[in-house]
Amino acid sequence: MTSTFPLPDPFELARRAAAVLAERTGRAQHDLFVVLGSGWAHVAELLPGGIDVAMTQLPGFPEPSAAGHGGAFRSLDVGGLRVLLALGRVHLYEGHDPQAVAHGVRMAWAAGCGTVILTNAAGILNPDWPLGRPIVISDHINLTGTSPLTGPNPTPPLPGRFADMSTAYTPALRSLVHRLEPSLPEGVYVGFRGPQFETPAEVRMAGLLGGSLVGMSTVLEAIAASHLRMQVLGLSLATNLAAGLSPAPLDGDHVLAVARENAPWVADLLARIIHELATEHNQQAPQ
Ligand code: HPA
Repeated sequence: MTSTFPLPDPFELARRAAAVLAERTGRAQHDLFVVLGSGWAHVAELLPGGIDVAMTQLPGFPEPSAAGHGGAFRSLDVGGLRVLLALGRVHLYEGHDPQAVAHGVRMAWAAGCGTVILTNAAGILNPDWPLGRPIVISDHINLTGTSPLTGPNPTPPLPGRFADMSTAYTPALRSLVHRLEPSLPEGVYVGFRGPQFETPAEVRMAGLLGGSLVGMSTVLEAIAASHLRMQVLGLSLATNLAAGLSPAPLDGDHVLAVARENAPWVADLLARIIHELATEHNQQAPQ
């Protein structure tokens, strides 16, 4: 069997992408990486300024094809915090391999980011949770059947492939969100490969396994980030009750419409989180 592992090494490719990013943005380093999934991109309008770089100008990125996903990175300064926004992301269901899905996170790591915020839209299993509002991800169950750590063991001093996932979603970041918005629930995100929505039986299974949210992104990026010891915050915008619980058939356009309707509130929360992280960053920075 021939190897399907892409060359060059994914971490080397990430370093090359980070070098081009630094050149194009004029910022040698970034601090925070924010992946804007469905419904979250509006935050870019609340954080003025920034320099855009098309994903395809950077080594290793395919063109995202999912509706509602752009294809650029935006570099911003938010009160001294160097923020890199991903306007769109790469999904497994577009036919890309797990290394391509994790490439943005790895590039951000190579660019100096110690923290990543992963946002998405998801179906919820709890009918008492409000639609159009975010859920804080406490943990995940990876049902994609793959991992970005598949392949040769990363070369030291990179951490080895047997990465600890005990606190993949950083408790301090979850607490920060609850401080800002105490009403938001927390839940376990179950990552499916998609692109079809789940069957009612799959949703029941997700519930029996301990899941409370279902979606088609985030888990591989969280694994890649946690492997590199980045701090991770995961936020899911609840756009619909999951299949079998939803009174209506699921529909991608409806998901995007719910995301769009709630974009201002959701973006405002994300902007507040980023400002809070900027404040913490400045308090920690050597004077
Ligand atoms: N399932 C999977 N992904 C989703 C859903 C869902 O119900 N809603 C939004 N993204």
